[in-house]
This record gives sequence, C-alpha cells and structure tokens, in this order.
Amino acid sequence: MTFKLKNGLRGEILLPGDKSISHRSIMLGALANGTTEINNFLRGADCLSTISCFTKLGVTIEATKSRILVHGNGLRGLKAPNQILDCGNSGTTARLISGILAAQNFTCTMVGDSSLKTRPMRRIIKPLSMMGANITATLGNDCIPLRITGSHLKGIHYDSPVASAQVKSSILLAGLYADGVTSVTEPALSRNHTELMLDTFGASISTSGTTATVEPINELYAQKINVPGDISSAAYFIAAALIVPGSEVVLKNVGINHTRDGMLTVCREMGADLSFENLKMKGEPAADLVVRHSELKGVTIAGDIIPKLIDELPMIAIMACFAKGTTIIKDAAELKVKESNRIRVIVENLQRMGADIEETDDGMIIRGGRPLHGAVIDSHNDHRVAMSFSIAALNCEGETTITRKDCVNISYPRFYIDLKKLIP
Ligand code: S3P
Repeated sequence: MTFKLKNGLRGEILLPGDKSISHRSIMLGALANGTTEINNFLRGADCLSTISCFTKLGVTIEATKSRILVHGNGLRGLKAPNQILDCGNSGTTARLISGILAAQNFTCTMVGDSSLKTRPMRRIIKPLSMMGANITATLGNDCIPLRITGSHLKGIHYDSPVASAQVKSSILLAGLYADGVTSVTEPALSRNHTELMLDTFGASISTSGTTATVEPINELYAQKINVPGDISSAAYFIAAALIVPGSEVVLKNVGINHTRDGMLTVCREMGADLSFENLKMKGEPAADLVVRHSELKGVTIAGDIIPKLIDELPMIAIMACFAKGTTIIKDAAELKVKESNRIRVIVENLQRMGADIEETDDGMIIRGGRPLHGAVIDSHNDHRVAMSFSIAALNCEGETTITRKDCVNISYPRFYIDLKKLIP
C-alpha cells in the first residue's frame, strides 16, 4: 500500500451508515406491518448477509440506488426457508436472528464463514434455551452451525455475564414472542440500538440502568429510518487526523449515541482537538466531527467504558503508540472472541512495526513514543485490523503490506477510496 503523505490529511468524508443500526433496520422492518424505508443503509458484506437471510425467510427487500425498502411480513409472517441461512462473517446477524428464529413455527439451519464458526454461541444458546428455545449446535461445540426449531417461548429475567448488545438483543427479540415479560441485565451498558429501534417500531420496551425489559406484542409498525454514519468507521479517520501532523478533517453525520462514544471520550482524555458541529439530537444522535492533529498522551482504558468502544480498540491501540507515555487497556477480554483474537493480532502486528507493546490477559500495555516502521501486516481477514493498520501505515517509515485487505468490505467497502480523498 502506498499513499504519499506530505502535508497531513485534509477534507471531508460522509461516513457510511452504522452497521449495527443497518442490521436492526432490516430485522425490525421484516417483522413489521408495512414498508420500512431505510436511508444511508450500510451496503457492507455483513448487512448484506442479514438481507440475504431475511430474503430466504420470505421477506421482499428492494434496493434502489438511494435506499432500501423492506416489505415487512409482520411479526408472525416469516416463512420456512428452503435453504440454509448463511450469516457469512456476521456475528450480529447470527446472534440476533437466533432470537427471532427461536419463536417461529419452523426449523432452519444457520451457517457462517470460517471466522464465525469459531465464535462463541453458548452466550445466546443458554438464555434462549431458558426461554424454551430448541437450539442445537450441530457439531456439539457451542458454535455455528446452529439448528433452530421454533418453539413456544416464556419470558425470563437474564443476568448476562457479558456486556454484549448481541446477547441482549437476541433475548429482547425473542421476548417479543414470549409469554410474559422478558428482561436482561448486563454487567455494563452495551449499545442500545435495539432498545431505541424497538421503541420506534411500537414495541413495549423500557430501560433502567443496565436492565432492558420488553413485553410481548402482536404487531410492529413500519418506519422510515435514517441511518447515521458509523462511529466505528469514523474512528479510522479520527485517529489518522490525530496522529498525522498537519491534518484537519471533517467527518459528516457521525452517530454519537452515548453507548458508542467511548472513543471520543478517550481521544479527549488523550488530548485530542476534536469538536462537534451540526448536532442532531432527535432519534439516534449525530454530528459532524472536526478533528485536528494533536499531541497525544497515554491513558488507562478500563471498566464500563469498554463496551462503548470495543470495536475501536484496535485503532486506539495504534493511536497509543504515537502518544507520549503508557496506555493500559484492561477489562477487554471480549476482544479475543471478535472476528479474530484482536488482542493477539494487534499486539503481534504492532510488534512487527517496532512498537513497545505487551499482551495481557484482558488487554494490552503500550509504551508510546517509539517510531513505527513499515511491515507485512497479517489482517487475519479481520476488517477492523486491516483498516486500523492501514492508518498506522500512514505514519510509519517505509512500506506496509496488509494481507487480505479486501476484508474491509465487511463494514466499509469504500474505505480505501475515502482514505485517498483525504490525501491532498
Ligand atoms: C454489535 C455488538 C458488539 C460489536 C459488534 C456489533 C451489535 O458485539 O462488537 O461489532 O451490532 O450488536 P457484542 O455485542 O458481542 O459485544
């Protein structure tokens, strides 16, 4: 990869739609009565997997140039698929759809790619089974493939051992069909897009602290959804602007939901020059972010903030290499069960670039300030690793090669095009 960078990054980027919100808009649109219109839908491979699964479940989904139309089948209108449901690389598709499939009146099987096949599914099999679901991991390893036979579900209260929006959402979606009330308490608040969107679609949902509660209903109602830009995609350009001298970038229409804004908090603690313009607070909040190159300092990142920046940690770890002092990331063991073992993969790749970094049980310790050099980076086919290291490469001496860099298609197909736009 060769980008010639003389005077920093400059310009404006309109971010692609938020991945989590895009998935949910297809799912709730499919279960609603009427046609849901989705603007700024993320056409990345993960969200296309969700579309493909719901198409197989009998839902008509139309894509025009500017928007997606989901002609909902109603809460009880999904059809038995005559093919296996392929979730591709998408944990969100697999885990959320399981909650819906657990309550249908048919059986189906879900598969995924080689990464998804290794990701833990026990975390949803257990609570859904407590609700009465009939789910089998066909290889007996608590991983995908899963065979799900729809059943009559009962409401439960579940104390989740992990702060995971995928687990919470799977249970809440099943709760729409259950007898009685369903609630989930998590150890720290994870992203709340499902709760917000369920409310918009007319479900009876309430939240208090880290508990979300849903009541069974008969109908959801189609909506018009404007998906804000994905803060997890903005993260790459935020970091790039901060670490490359002379940079000033404007990132338009970025979702700044308070359950997703941990990276902004951390950047400010590190000393970032970062401000908001054109703030929109209705529905999912969004703003334009203005970011300028800044001298950064090391910080400790731990505790309840971790779920609010879990997907941004690869990029934050790289930023920390360019900061003065030590950055400690802890309480982030969840990184090990993402699309790759992100603790191991970040540490190994940053060591290849000459960073002073060590792996810990639940995170890493980064001693910043050592100049990085170009290297061959193994992306492990993990989109967030490929994009984060593409940004690291901008600030390294020498050339960097990233293996299987096309994996950026999972969440940000235009990543390299947008990055080029910022290079004068
Ligand atoms: C997501 C939740 C997070 C996140 C993932 C998307 C979602 O996963 O890492 O990229 O859309 O609910 P967990 O819920 O497993 O932490």
